[in-house]
Amino acid sequence: MIKIIEPNKTLQTWKYYRRDILQIEEICFDYNIRASRSDLFAEYVEPNSDILLAEDHNFIVGTLWAVPFEKMEFGDELKNKDGHYGQNNTMYITNLAVLPNRRRYGTAKMMIKYLIDKHPEKRIVAHALNAVSQTVFEKIKFKILFTDTEWFDHTKAPYMVYEPLKDFG
Ligand SMILES: CC(C)(COP(=O)(O)OP(=O)(O)OC[C@H]1O[C@@H](n2cnc3c(N)ncnc32)[C@H](O)[C@@H]1OP(=O)(O)O)[C@@H](O)C(=O)NCCC(=O)NCCS
Repeated sequence: MIKIIEPNKTLQTWKYYRRDILQIEEICFDYNIRASRSDLFAEYVEPNSDILLAEDHNFIVGTLWAVPFEKMEFGDELKNKDGHYGQNNTMYITNLAVLPNRRRYGTAKMMIKYLIDKHPEKRIVAHALNAVSQTVFEKIKFKILFTDTEWFDHTKAPYMVYEPLKDFG
């Protein structure tokens, strides 16, 4: 059975999980969009980031990482198009991946729902890297806010948003 775990952010825990994390990154992403070990470590220890790992029988099969929008080094155009930069009400999904032989079991959906439940008052946003991830986000009621034409290597990527259900004023 798959369960979602949130490792604590100590160096010791990073060392415990980093091999699994780096392996998933390498298997699931092309080299041009893959995060480096140092990028991953920086995000892992960022105090306000969410590091979710999907575990199946003590084996890490998927990851979802999210950081506050304000921590992302986005250009002004994207910040303006989103319109919420500086309001501290948005988490940005930087990393979502499930091992190929563990896909289509609802793991990505489970991790995204976990994130939504953890931050019921926040918007959750992500660039959908491909048609499959766009479908996954759409299943959980993310909507395309705009298409980013300047994403990695100037490819197009839908910028997708999940708006919180409740009005927290
Ligand atoms: C995108 C990714 C994380 C999805 O992981 P997953 O655990 O297989 O996704 P889920 O099983 O939770 O699927 C959720 C929904 O999307 C749909 N879906 C998932 N994979 C699909 C596919 N290949 N084709 C069509 N629909 C798909 C499912 O039907 C599912 O909805 P349903 O089960 O209610 O019908 C995985 O394919 C992956 O790691 N891809 C490579 C890395 C990547 O592109 N990451 C996304 C970055 S934004």
